[in-house]
Amino acid sequence: MMESNVLKEPVPIYSADDGLFTPEIGSWGVQKYRLVGMYNELFSKGMKERWDRRVYIDLFAGSGKARLRDSGRVVLGSPLLALAVPNPYDRYIFCEQDSDAMNALKQRVSTLNTNLDVHFVDGDCNEQIDRIISKIPHYSSGTKVLSFCFVDPFSLDIHFQTIGKLGNYILDFLILLMLSDPMRNEDRYTEENSKRIELFLGVRDWREKWKSAKSRNMGIRQFLATEFANQMIMLGYREEALSSMVEVRSDDRNLPLYHLAFFSKHPLGYKFWNEVRKYATDQTSFEF
Ligand SMILES: C[S@@+](CC[C@H](N)C(=O)[O-])C[C@H]1O[C@@H](n2cnc3c(N)ncnc32)[C@H](O)[C@@H]1O
Repeated sequence: MMESNVLKEPVPIYSADDGLFTPEIGSWGVQKYRLVGMYNELFSKGMKERWDRRVYIDLFAGSGKARLRDSGRVVLGSPLLALAVPNPYDRYIFCEQDSDAMNALKQRVSTLNTNLDVHFVDGDCNEQIDRIISKIPHYSSGTKVLSFCFVDPFSLDIHFQTIGKLGNYILDFLILLMLSDPMRNEDRYTEENSKRIELFLGVRDWREKWKSAKSRNMGIRQFLATEFANQMIMLGYREEALSSMVEVRSDDRNLPLYHLAFFSKHPLGYKFWNEVRKYATDQTSFEF
């Protein structure tokens, strides 16, 4: 019943320092951990009776913990938040390209001492996507498989081709769009030889679209968010993605940092995401 899927309170995100590799992050990371932690809780519980196998995929998994620069407090990273839910997923797939981060993550998972089904993929998620996909259990009439994929790059390092391959499966995405980077470095992203936007959007003719958007006074942030969402809509994801993006701004200067964008092909996904959004301190979405 949906009533039982209403969150009573935010999930705990703080943790002890275990001495392993723990990268520093800004305090704005707290919002991300709260929201992804809560979404995991709702999704894993709400889908338990409806699906035979629920799979959690983290393409930019990190080391499992992070330290807040200002306070020194340690928070659980996305993989450990997903492992801590009361109704664990049936399989976890963690991809990470940095060996220090991956080693720390493996150690942290092993000390949890759980019987959970965890798979690690070392390397760049864009290059390793076929290996990642090979770890998703096969769907059959007797085994219904539903996946949730968290995409949390430092910048716009996810390739649309990677998303498109995963989009062939029954899978919801929560994608952190780090749009402050192209905003600060517009020249670098748009220079003639740069392939970054082409890879991110999966569109060759994006320069013409960008020229036309600019002539309508659209900034690069809104252009990239809109084009990315349009690409997702073409894969069959619902249009609510745009109106339900959560914007996170920096604490000190109130500048836009990133958006959390949720993509599902099914209305139930948005029911969970909208529940989680109530806990976001800033719910500004792009205006269209
Ligand atoms: C913003 S951190 C994400 C942290 C993690 N999701 C969390 O919640 O703590 C990005 C991580 O992705 C890793 N990374 C960067 N590019 C990558 C790529 N192409 N494929 C896989 N991992 C990547 C970085 O080493 C870093 O640990």
